[in-house]
Amino acid sequence: MSKRFIPVSEPTITEKEIEYVLKAVKSGWVSSLGEFITKFEEDFAKFVGTKFALTVTNGTAGLHLALISCGIKEGDEVIVPDLTFIATANAVKYTGATPVFADIDKDTWCISPENIRKKITSRTKAIIPVHLYGHPADMDPILQIAREYGLYVIEDCAEAHGAEYKGKKVGSIGHCGVFSFYGNKIITTGEGGMITTNDENLYEKAKYLRDHAMSKEKRYWHTEIGYNYRMTNMQAALGLAQLERINEIINKKRRIFEWYKEELSDLEGIKLNPEKEWAKNVYWMVCLVNENFDEGKRDEFMKKLKEKGIDTRPFFYPCSMMPMYSQKNFINPVSYEISKKGINLPSGYNLKKEDVKWIAKVIIENL
Ligand SMILES: Cc1ncc(COP(=O)(O)O)c(C=O)c1O
Repeated sequence: MSKRFIPVSEPTITEKEIEYVLKAVKSGWVSSLGEFITKFEEDFAKFVGTKFALTVTNGTAGLHLALISCGIKEGDEVIVPDLTFIATANAVKYTGATPVFADIDKDTWCISPENIRKKITSRTKAIIPVHLYGHPADMDPILQIAREYGLYVIEDCAEAHGAEYKGKKVGSIGHCGVFSFYGNKIITTGEGGMITTNDENLYEKAKYLRDHAMSKEKRYWHTEIGYNYRMTNMQAALGLAQLERINEIINKKRRIFEWYKEELSDLEGIKLNPEKEWAKNVYWMVCLVNENFDEGKRDEFMKKLKEKGIDTRPFFYPCSMMPMYSQKNFINPVSYEISKKGINLPSGYNLKKEDVKWIAKVIIENL
């Protein structure tokens, strides 16, 4: 094992983050009230371009809260992409509804609008497009389908803070957007999440359910079952400092991708992340898809890189392969194909050009 170890991702914490967190701790406002919560929500809404933003404990809770605020319940169906982190599907399951897995588009790796159409039934109530690995889903045809069938569109923006679709930031396009601030995300609060929306009713409903569905008029009076999905002021302090640096962080992510592209884009059978002409990709994770991989070859390749001190991750497995979601003879061909050929390369903010050159050299030697 080489002494050098390059992780897939790492957060970027500066003096600003430390200063804000200390201020929150010293203020005594350590739970979910405090100036950082308010400012983080206001500034995040401004950044995304929505009227409202609501902090939550994490992205998974945010998806659950968004779904129940849209009235999704047992007996309903929600269409989600097959290739995503499992949280997207699980959040649907928490409501009692059924996640229905649509295939992805081979060019964006995000949910395929044509395939959504094929999955619609009389029970369908919502679609959750996921902006996978930092690239936006093709939203216009998705919104068109949603209008035709009267469906909610909840954008899963966990991996795509600042990504743009036709000049609009993700999280401002559907009925609402949900972000994650887990430690490996574009910006972090340790654990945390945010719901963004322009719909005041949706915002008020989510805010109420986030706080145990407490009556606005009568404290400690509850007429339905709510949740504690509140973020702490300390986390919001970290988040605010990160948000003030978000453009610099995204620019660095884009530069890192360009460095990889210079080294790897001409290789036979290799594809890096897409960026459609209508998209701004924030390259949450730099991805490499090798036409010649199968699952075994891919895992062997990752092992070789690990021996050199280069950390990688396999692409997500299709959700419909997981024991709790699998159905006999069910397959989404594009998701199943790309899943076994793809890996995430080191993409952390602290990477330098010479690191990327070295990683690329090791990749080429071991392909
Ligand atoms: C696509 C996607 N959705 C949802 C989540 C859930 O977010 P969290 O980990 O904050 O619960 C994540 C990431 O973790 C994700 O990548």
